[in-house]
Order: sequence, then C-alpha cells, then structure tokens
Amino acid sequence: MEKRRIGVLTGGGDCAGLNPAIKWVVKTALDDRLQRVRKVQHEAIGIRDGWKGLVEPESEGDPPVSRMFTLTEEMVRTWDRYGGTNLGTSRTNPYDPKKDRSKTVLENLERFKIDYLIAIGGEDTLGVANKLHREGVKVVGIPKTIDKDLSGTDYTLGFETALNVITEEIDRLRTTAGSHRRIFVVETMGRHAGWLALEGGESSGAYIILIPEYNFDVNRVNELLMEGHRKGTRYEIIVVAEGAKPAGGSEIIKENGVDSFGHKALGGIGEFLANQITESTKIETRSIILSHLQRGGAPCAYDRRMGRYFGIAAVDLIAKEDFGKMVSLRNGRITAVSLEEAVGKLNVVDVNTQYDIERYNGRRTILGY
Ligand code: F6P
Repeated sequence: MEKRRIGVLTGGGDCAGLNPAIKWVVKTALDDRLQRVRKVQHEAIGIRDGWKGLVEPESEGDPPVSRMFTLTEEMVRTWDRYGGTNLGTSRTNPYDPKKDRSKTVLENLERFKIDYLIAIGGEDTLGVANKLHREGVKVVGIPKTIDKDLSGTDYTLGFETALNVITEEIDRLRTTAGSHRRIFVVETMGRHAGWLALEGGESSGAYIILIPEYNFDVNRVNELLMEGHRKGTRYEIIVVAEGAKPAGGSEIIKENGVDSFGHKALGGIGEFLANQITESTKIETRSIILSHLQRGGAPCAYDRRMGRYFGIAAVDLIAKEDFGKMVSLRNGRITAVSLEEAVGKLNVVDVNTQYDIERYNGRRTILGY
C-alpha cells in the first residue's frame, strides 16, 4: 500500500475545539478500513507551535526538542474533552515582510517528507496556507476562531464555547450588578467583527450591544440607560466588542505596535465607555474585560461535534486530492470552499439585517414586518 504523511498544525489564537479537530484528523487518517478502501497508509505528524514548527523544527534549549512527532490513535483518544491545543500554537508568519521564511517552510516540508498538510486556523493561519498552496503545497484548512470572521463558512471552531463563557460570566455579573444597582460594561474580543459581542449579548440578554460594524453615539447610550432607569431597572448590562468605537473616535489600542500579521492589540473601550457613562448619568458604572477567558475551558458539545466533522472532512479532502480548500459549514451541511474565498475578506455583521441601530441591540424582527 502507498504510504503518505499528513502533517497537522494549529496556528494563531487558541480556542476550544482545536483538540477535537486534531483527534478526528488522526482517527480518520489512521482508520484501518478507510485506509484499505483508499489504498493509502497514512501517518499523522503533529507539528508543534503553528507555523513556527515548520520554520524552526527544533525548539531552542539544550538538548533541542523536535517540533515534529508521530500522532497515534491512542495518544489522541481523550483529546476532544480538552480546551486549547495540545499541539501548541504561535502567531509566527512565515511570509512576514520583515523576514520572509516561506522558503524554509517549503524545505522543511520536504525534509520531513510531509506529503499533505492540514492547517487549523483563522484568517492569518489560513492566509499562509493559501500562499503555500499557490507554491504547490498540498494543503487543506479547518476554520477556527472565536471571532467567527472567516468567509465561506457559517461556523468557526471555538465560537460557541466562547459564547457560553460570555453568557455564564454575565449571569454571574447580574447578581452583583443588581445588588449594588450598578451598570456593567462587558468587553468581549472579536477584533473587527462584532459576532461575539452581538451573539454573546443576545444569549445573555444584554440591554445594549455595541459592535465594530456600527459606530455608537455615547449620548444615545446614555439616553437608553436613562430610559431603563426611569422604568425602574436595578441595573443594566452593556456588551461592547473590543473593536467598537464611538462615532468620530477611533479603536482603543492596549499596546503599541503590531504582531507579525500586522494586527494591533485592541482593548480598553469598556473602561472608556464606563467612565463616560458615570460622568454623564451619575449612575455607578463598572467595566470588565473578559479577554482570554473567552478562549479557555473545555469545548462545549457543539465544538466537539464540529471539530469532529471538520477533522473528518479535512482528511476526506486529502483522500480526494482536493487541495487549497477549507472545510466549512454552509446551511447546515459540511462542505468545502477555496482558501482564497475563506480569507479573501472578513465576514462581519451585516448591520442592515442583523443589528438594530435604534436600540443598539440584536434585531427585533426576524421574519419581517
Ligand atoms: O483572533 C482571536 C483573538 O482572540 C481576538 O479576538 C483578539 O483580538 C486576539 O485574538 C488576541 O490575541 P492575543 O492572544 O495574541 O492577545
């Protein structure tokens, strides 16, 4: 039987759902029955630390440790229960314009005899995968990001678990907010996409939701809060996306500089808004940044299931020799789209159909008037 090596890596920010996807890549690739039918014997190679594993296949240290290792079914048996990524991750960009190391990646794929590559990631990781595909690498992608901002798919691994975190944390905040009659501003992640704030706010029943796709007016926020206050509410929850900004203002950055993919570190809009509200309404307002809690914890049932389906489908694409594709969920079906389409443009909230610009919240008519 022909022998082929499948390398698998996870890149960019970690999240829940990565380990289930890796598990099902390995189990599908090594499945005896499928190997017989496909007439190929696969070996699964774990590549540690995202693209860094292919740029520097040995870690620093004495002695250096290989970033490549053989994955077995026994090894990954329990992985779907765990959050994060057991392969490790990094934000290494082999195509960093300041230091292009893409040739090294190609050399290492040859050196370690990796015939096929499965990249699990968001726009950055899959953007690299797309460029490698153009250079002839037999690569397929699996979408993951709590930001849910990849095109060509209705789901990205990690999103649903992150929504659960937002909802649970807001449930906790509600009791203390009510006891003290405080307003709480909860800042979510999401970069330039408002999905986490919008759907997290909807799941938790937030009074106001602010997203990057629609610049908010602080006076309108105060007006809405005073309206609620006059009706006798004891407290309010506002969910704000880290990339949201007031009209005429700009995004708030927590650190100067950019990472190797050119992203700024967003953060601080929640505190800014809480101060503005306290000043204008005189109602005590606190802010909290949920930050990396949204990426942590065990995958919820949906992420385990989607990790499974995406992992299996990625190996199917390899078996069909259908490279340069990303597995995806479309209208309830698992399918595949080109990596080009997936990373071509960000998938953001459509304000016209998915957001209420009067109430600063989710829409209140779904089927139309
Ligand atoms: O893209 C995922 C994400 O969690 C964004 O929502 C957030 O802005 C960013 O990563 C944070 O990255 P880091 O873990 O490098 O701080």
